[in-house]
Amino acid sequence: MGDARGELVGRRALVSGASSGLGRAFARELARRGAGLVLTARREERLQALAEELRSAHGVEVRVEALDLGAPGAAGELFTRTEGQGLTIDILVNNAGLGAHGDFLDRPFEDAAQQVRVNVLALLELSHRFGQAMRARRRGWILDVASFVADLPVPQMAVYAATKAFVRHLGDALAVELAPHGVKVCSLLPGGIDTEFFAVSGQGERIPGVMRLTMASPEQVARAGLAALFGWRRSVAPGLLIKLGLWSVRLMPRRLRAWLAHRIMGLPAAAQ
Ligand SMILES: NC(=O)c1ccc[n+]([C@@H]2O[C@H](COP(=O)([O-])OP(=O)(O)OC[C@H]3O[C@@H](n4cnc5c(N)ncnc54)[C@H](OP(=O)(O)O)[C@@H]3O)[C@@H](O)[C@H]2O)c1
Repeated sequence: MGDARGELVGRRALVSGASSGLGRAFARELARRGAGLVLTARREERLQALAEELRSAHGVEVRVEALDLGAPGAAGELFTRTEGQGLTIDILVNNAGLGAHGDFLDRPFEDAAQQVRVNVLALLELSHRFGQAMRARRRGWILDVASFVADLPVPQMAVYAATKAFVRHLGDALAVELAPHGVKVCSLLPGGIDTEFFAVSGQGERIPGVMRLTMASPEQVARAGLAALFGWRRSVAPGLLIKLGLWSVRLMPRRLRAWLAHRIMGLPAAAQ
């Protein structure tokens, strides 16, 4: 599939984390191509406003399911409210995620647990439930939003980087497992994206220079992710600098990776 307007008519996509940033950009791009949508995140008013915008701009059917994906049973509930009611999901965009900046021991444990619940557990359960339905139909697309830090242990973002390593490993393996069943799985590995992520993580305006250098718009990243997903690619790192960075990291010894990440992405303790 290319990126033509209307090419996804008759398909329906579920986008998690659609209330902001990259998720909102995915929803807009999928609607532009004609896909029906299920939008999920916690902030319902934002989802309703986006749904209204997409219905009137593209005439697509949009449903809002406001849920906290960090809450027990949320992924199952989302499945029940969609596939459970005969609402086929052809495309799953596992986008919802958050980071928390700071030394591991200095942040409340709850921050670490929430990152694991949303970035890992919710993604895992959604992939399992919707993946089974897709396999039964012998057709489906799953796009996992990982990060360029998936291969990079990052001091001061240790838990976040570890969750993204999980997402990347899972996606690589599932891509092979599910391909014979007609289900495509693709991992997206973006560098910095200009979204609310840094405010949520506690970095605020103090974004490291390397992140600013690679900063892309959510629209650019969403288009690159969907192009890879529908182009049968198993992963995509949008942007030349990010591609080069990823290749250099892979050639480095693991010990050097964490040291380097600290040097280029860590913030001086006094500035925290
Ligand atoms: N920005 C970057 O530089 C960057 C780089 C690489 C990868 N990424 C990844 O890109 C994805 C999207 O992030 P973003 O940059 O667009 O950040 P963002 O603007 O903060 O958006 C994060 C989205 O995740 C949702 N979310 C967070 N916690 C949730 C929960 N408990 N339940 C349901 N939804 C939840 C938020 O919705 P609610 O708050 O309304 O629930 C929001 O829609 C994430 O997976 C992130 O790790 C970002």
